[in-house]
Amino acid sequence: MKPEIIKTSQISPDQSVICILGKDEIPGFLRLNKTEKEYSLKKLKAKEDHVFINSYFKCTYLVKIKEGADEFKTKEELRKTASGLKKLIKSNNHKELVIVAHKAYKGAIEDFTEGLLLSFYSFDKYKTKDDEESKKAYPSKLLLMGDVDKAEFKWLDDLTSAVYFARDLINEPVNHLNATALASEILKCGKAAGFRVEVLNKGKIEALKMGGLLAVNKGSVDPPVFCILEWKPGKRVNRQPVVLVGKGIVYDTGGLNIKTGDYMANMKGDMAGAATVTGVFYTAAKNKIPLHIIGLIPATDNRPGGNAYTQGDIITMHNKMTVEVGNTDAEGRLILADAISYAAKYKPELIIDIATLTGSAAITFGNQAIAMMTNADRKYISLLEECGNMVYERIAELPFWEEYGEMIKSHIADVRNIGGREAGAITAGKFLERFSEFPLIHLDIAGTGMLKKDDFYRLKDGPGSGLRLLASFVKKLAKDYRKLK
Ligand code: BES
Ligand code: MN
Ligand code: ZN
Repeated sequence: MKPEIIKTSQISPDQSVICILGKDEIPGFLRLNKTEKEYSLKKLKAKEDHVFINSYFKCTYLVKIKEGADEFKTKEELRKTASGLKKLIKSNNHKELVIVAHKAYKGAIEDFTEGLLLSFYSFDKYKTKDDEESKKAYPSKLLLMGDVDKAEFKWLDDLTSAVYFARDLINEPVNHLNATALASEILKCGKAAGFRVEVLNKGKIEALKMGGLLAVNKGSVDPPVFCILEWKPGKRVNRQPVVLVGKGIVYDTGGLNIKTGDYMANMKGDMAGAATVTGVFYTAAKNKIPLHIIGLIPATDNRPGGNAYTQGDIITMHNKMTVEVGNTDAEGRLILADAISYAAKYKPELIIDIATLTGSAAITFGNQAIAMMTNADRKYISLLEECGNMVYERIAELPFWEEYGEMIKSHIADVRNIGGREAGAITAGKFLERFSEFPLIHLDIAGTGMLKKDDFYRLKDGPGSGLRLLASFVKKLAKDYRKLK
């Protein structure tokens, strides 16, 4: 359960407090005694990243802001400091905790709280017994004190809830979350946040001739779904929507080109793109962002069952193009391609797809960057880069030259779904581009979307990669829309 966050205007003497400090100074409102103050100042001078004071009836945590090389890094350091405190905080078993700042930069409380909330997440619904660790708990309330802007506060609350929601979906194994179950979670989310959701069943998908999604689904006993999300506020800045496409492979075995060794281990998370897109809609709708957005989520598992599609198959896609299947493990691009060509019916201003698409992206950038390939106007890219730096979900661009398109030529069909070992992330992007009649930003989160171990507040398994990035992009695009044109 995510702790509740509440705005407050006072600290009572027995409340435990985290105080974020911009200077080596102990503010009077902390009511520390002389020895405690001297002790704290000594520790701060010694550049300790936090000071902990247990005054018997309350605890005080002092946290010094670490100046980074730039604004972005400073913000990130504070989120990381917050995540570093989670064990200590839990060991003290607070019911509630006040977060306050003294001479800190504007937004410090929000950044710190974000880092803390994202670190407090856990996926423990299948534990039937309390273990040693769960006898202590994180605080169930965080009281934010000071001039926290009302809209910023709400944004933080909804955004972190969205990340929790996305993580829950990613971490849910396929025996509990098949494509149909994913669709019903998306429907529920739409009801809770106030955006529209339509779920197309297998019959509709067949009628739409989405050959990519249907081919990948052939080896499965569960039907595919295609979810359409829409947030269309009365007051909106754009005429043509922005379309967000999320990969919804609820499990990727590789299909007949089955994944060997350990490569299948965390493939329940191959729908991280879908979870992210849904989380972005939740945040945008809850905060009534004045931007018309459409979300498209094709979903199925990829398995080597009875009638599974095979290497060498030629499939006809939604847009009538034919694809030679060079490898059944390159399934993501097949389902995304159908969604991307379906997007044309909205005449979108921009299409953004997000997917755990290629091992190649993970090999190139590790878990530090989202791989981006694009043919869209640079004004969108600058905006996206800035958002990436602000929330520290940074994007790194790969070349998208037309020569890379040569690598996915087929001698018997219009295109092939693999391009060989080299430039794997780029050829996957090039494949998607073939299906897009509108400007495309392709985000490959294979490196960032499923983690083997915690990276500060980016928790292992499904950290919810790209959600904070795209939510802030949608918000900023709406805000700067006229300026950008
Ligand atoms: N879901 C995987 C990509 C992936 C790999 C995500 C590792 C996260 C970690 C994708 O469907 C896949 O299997 N891609 C293949 C493509 C290849 C067959 C051209 C890959 O990258 O190996
Ligand atoms: Mn695959
Ligand atoms: Zn996959």
